[in-house]
Amino acid sequence: MINLGSKRLGSPGWRNENILSDETLKKIYGKQALQYFSEDNLSPFVFSDSKSFDLIELEQLLQAVGWGRRPLRRVKKALDNSLLKVGLWQHDSKFPRLIGFARCTGDGVIDATIWDVAINPVYQGFGLGKQLMSYLMRSLKREGIKRVTLFADSDVITFYKRQGWILEPKGNKCAFWYSN
Ligand SMILES: CC(C)(COP(=O)(O)OP(=O)(O)OC[C@H]1O[C@@H](n2cnc3c(N)ncnc32)[C@H](O)[C@@H]1OP(=O)(O)O)[C@@H](O)C(=O)NCCC(=O)NCCS
Repeated sequence: MINLGSKRLGSPGWRNENILSDETLKKIYGKQALQYFSEDNLSPFVFSDSKSFDLIELEQLLQAVGWGRRPLRRVKKALDNSLLKVGLWQHDSKFPRLIGFARCTGDGVIDATIWDVAINPVYQGFGLGKQLMSYLMRSLKREGIKRVTLFADSDVITFYKRQGWILEPKGNKCAFWYSN
């Protein structure tokens, strides 16, 4: 377990120091992986949009934030059909631990919708959720996506508003259909 201390995770965290060489980072976490360091600089976190997921570990993470269990077969299909999947890993050379996740669906060109944004409760409140969103938005921008939407639970609206998200509907812009 990393010692996060009582302070927020350190001064802005994108650094290219030596905990993981670029080569190792790319080998384990993929081409666009980014390291984020805690204050003591000993325990890197890594954001990746290409490292694959262990479905059971992912479901455990999503259940840890209070979401219901879903059949793994359907989760796998949802991931396969997603435009982008982002993981946040606590680095370990043998067993990196998944502590954050978000994914997007979309057409790959114009629109994307963000789903399943989650940070393990143990690691919440240290700025990792914000960094996860920032990493995800950068990945979407790289793809040239023009408009991004998400559905926020009422108790996390502030989390998104602080990052510049605009709350809708102001007019008649939002519509839902449910199968039951
Ligand atoms: C929402 C969530 C991803 C935030 O992750 P986090 O790592 O705790 O968030 P951060 O530490 O990066 O917080 C960034 C900012 O948002 C604020 N914030 C975090 N969670 C918040 C919440 N639930 N409500 C309002 N503001 C919140 C923080 O105070 C912080 O504000 P600051 O920048 O002014 O200091 C995380 O709490 C989570 O996984 N929650 C359960 C799952 C969930 O509800 N996901 C969203 C689905 S719509």
